[in-house]
Amino acid sequence: MRDLMQQRKRLGVGIIGSGFMTRFHLYSWQAVRDADIRGIWSPNLDHAADAAALARLLRVGEAKPFGSITEMVNAPEIDCIWIIGPNHRRIENMEEIVQARKAGADLVAIASEKPLARNVGEALRMVELVEEADVLHGYLEDQLFTPSLVRSHEILWRRAAALTGRPYLARAAEEHSGPHNPWFWQGDLQGGGVLNDMMCHSVEVARFLLTEPGAPRTSIRPVKVSAQIASLKWSRPEYADHLRAWMGPEVDYHNRPSEDFARATITYEDDAGNTLIAETTTSWSFVGAGLRLSSELLGPEYSMKSDSLSSGAHIFISRRVQGDEGEDLVEKQNAEQGLMPVVGNEAAAYGYEGENRHFIRAFLDGRQPDLDFHAGLNVMEILMTAYMSAEQERTIYWKPDNLATFIPAVAQGTWKG
Ligand SMILES: NC(=O)c1ccc[n+]([C@@H]2O[C@H](COP(=O)([O-])OP(=O)(O)OC[C@H]3O[C@@H](n4cnc5c(N)ncnc54)[C@H](O)[C@@H]3O)[C@@H](O)[C@H]2O)c1
Repeated sequence: MRDLMQQRKRLGVGIIGSGFMTRFHLYSWQAVRDADIRGIWSPNLDHAADAAALARLLRVGEAKPFGSITEMVNAPEIDCIWIIGPNHRRIENMEEIVQARKAGADLVAIASEKPLARNVGEALRMVELVEEADVLHGYLEDQLFTPSLVRSHEILWRRAAALTGRPYLARAAEEHSGPHNPWFWQGDLQGGGVLNDMMCHSVEVARFLLTEPGAPRTSIRPVKVSAQIASLKWSRPEYADHLRAWMGPEVDYHNRPSEDFARATITYEDDAGNTLIAETTTSWSFVGAGLRLSSELLGPEYSMKSDSLSSGAHIFISRRVQGDEGEDLVEKQNAEQGLMPVVGNEAAAYGYEGENRHFIRAFLDGRQPDLDFHAGLNVMEILMTAYMSAEQERTIYWKPDNLATFIPAVAQGTWKG
């Protein structure tokens, strides 16, 4: 495979999915130099064609829509596949890629959006499939590439931790007012509620902040997990009605709610036996200007604080400006008037630019990135341990035995909130 890659000067990428996240990746690709978007597959060919047209408009590649995943994997101009479809289609998407690969398709790498799968059993299957495919692989966790986090992490470790000792406490939160499509709200399709959907980010951000730059992820190890989930807003009768009207009858929070709040405290230990703590909080019940990503890192003589809604410009729009509702100021925007934050380049600020540059460079060099399907599996193991802890209302010591078969009550449709 290495020889093959040495002949390649740039990579051609085919994307599975043409929804919200694919558009973010297309915008981010304007900052990726060594690869082009050359194909999009989505079950709806018109949507795939629209996404391909956006790619061409943004000049990120001569993208065309494909009629099937198999056709796209077999196309000579496609070297890598980015899986950006819904969670409940991950395994079938992956099986089709691997089948084409085994039948002789030439492929360098596969990258998958978060979460790697809906539960540990499925995540193990994703790892098995990617190893059968014998390609490089990446787990797309954008927030580890957030420029302000990468810089502050590097500065604090180099300047302050080197002289006064390693950091011991990290906090990471992701909050917004609720996802944009019905499948996210359905526990069986998505894999859970906000814990599965968003705590995958916060767990990784906190672990990243607590890990010395360049050290392997195994340099800190989980010891125990304590978590809580709740349905604070969306199972209230008036909001369950609103959700059904907004998302459709299949989203029934009167009878089958998912959690819209989750918090977890994960205790880690480093190689020297130091105790480290990650506090993570996520919610779909936060009504502020829009998506808010916040984090902190605390050490013996230093600290860091970051908030995505406070890091750019703010604008003020008076009550006399009454335009249409939109998402043109910030992701998951809740208002068009008053004092509103503006994130200058969301694709950069949330980490997508750095993420895609990182994976493309590794794949072009024939290098396996650390942030791979095994990392995605590891995140899923922590998330499922958090669900166990929340369900049993107790701290769970790492690593519980039955992780591979555990399905959260939320995903089984039996959780009552
Ligand atoms: N990194 C992040 O912050 C972030 C944010 C949002 C979503 N995501 C992840 O990205 C993925 C896509 O989310 P989204 O927001 O674009 O969802 P979406 O609902 O907006 O789009 C999903 C896309 O998948 C397509 N699709 C439908 N059936 C499919 C199938 N059988 N196989 C493949 N694709 C199919 C749909 O046509 C649609 O284009 C999810 O796994 C989600 O968890 C990540």
